[in-house]
Amino acid sequence: MSELSVRHLLGIKYLKEEDIQLIFETADHFKEVINRSIKKVPSLRDITIANIFFESSTRTKLSFELAEKRLSADVINFSASQSSVRKGETLIDTVNNILSMKVDMVVMRHPSPGAGIFLSQHVDAAIVNAGDGAHEHPTQALLDSYSIREKLGDVAGKNVVIVGDILHSRVALSNIFALKLQGANVKVCGPRTLLPKHIESLGIEVETNLIKALNWCDVANMLRIQNERLDISYFPTTREYTQQYGVNKAILDGLDKEIVIMHPGPINRGVEITSDVADSKQSIILNQVENGVAIRMAVIYLLASKIKTR
Ligand code: CP
Repeated sequence: MSELSVRHLLGIKYLKEEDIQLIFETADHFKEVINRSIKKVPSLRDITIANIFFESSTRTKLSFELAEKRLSADVINFSASQSSVRKGETLIDTVNNILSMKVDMVVMRHPSPGAGIFLSQHVDAAIVNAGDGAHEHPTQALLDSYSIREKLGDVAGKNVVIVGDILHSRVALSNIFALKLQGANVKVCGPRTLLPKHIESLGIEVETNLIKALNWCDVANMLRIQNERLDISYFPTTREYTQQYGVNKAILDGLDKEIVIMHPGPINRGVEITSDVADSKQSIILNQVENGVAIRMAVIYLLASKIKTR
């Protein structure tokens, strides 16, 4: 396979396994590029990309911008809080105004699930979903799987548990789709109130006991509680949540084997993960962030090549 089967990256749900492998092989090349003394290639000199963020972001926003600049694309950044959205301008009007400046691709983070899908149906540009509400965060799942592949050699056959607030997590859903496509075994672990009903229908298992889940897995992906999306209380207190579902060094040291610890960030140290775990040699959290640039370069490069041949 030499090109993606999709014109937009709206979610892992719309990808084939071959798409993921093509993105990984392309990211392998770009990872080598960004470790050279000259970290830039001229591949996208004729492409203009708008990063439009309607929600806060550190890792995703910076790594998309860096990825675009490493590929020599022209880049414009838009932050909703400093824009005419505050004066009532709609999403489609906003994006069409940006596109009239001859923009080829839009990378968007938005609080509404499906915002990227909606946009792709109404504007003429390649759309990359950089996180849409509690729906999907496809590039996060790609960089997560890529980091597992880098650490353990392969994703197929690995036991991966996703721990925490699964109900409100776009990272969880995209990871489940990505891991299942690649043949990993997946469990989710957390309080019942933070696990979506019927989640087993995605071909995964539920384990509410953290120690059992950790003893089963090769990789634990720790998620934070999405406080910004909680409309009611889903557990009695943060302290009680941490006692039941937080990972600390004593827990890690008591397991039957050494597992890999991941976290998409931002971390709430002392809640879902203690500092001695986050900063331990078992943690690949900063490798995930590093891999985010190569993965996003790969996604943008592959989508841009479809624009050119359109
Ligand atoms: N993992 C992630 O999406 O982090 P940001 O919200 O900082 O982009």
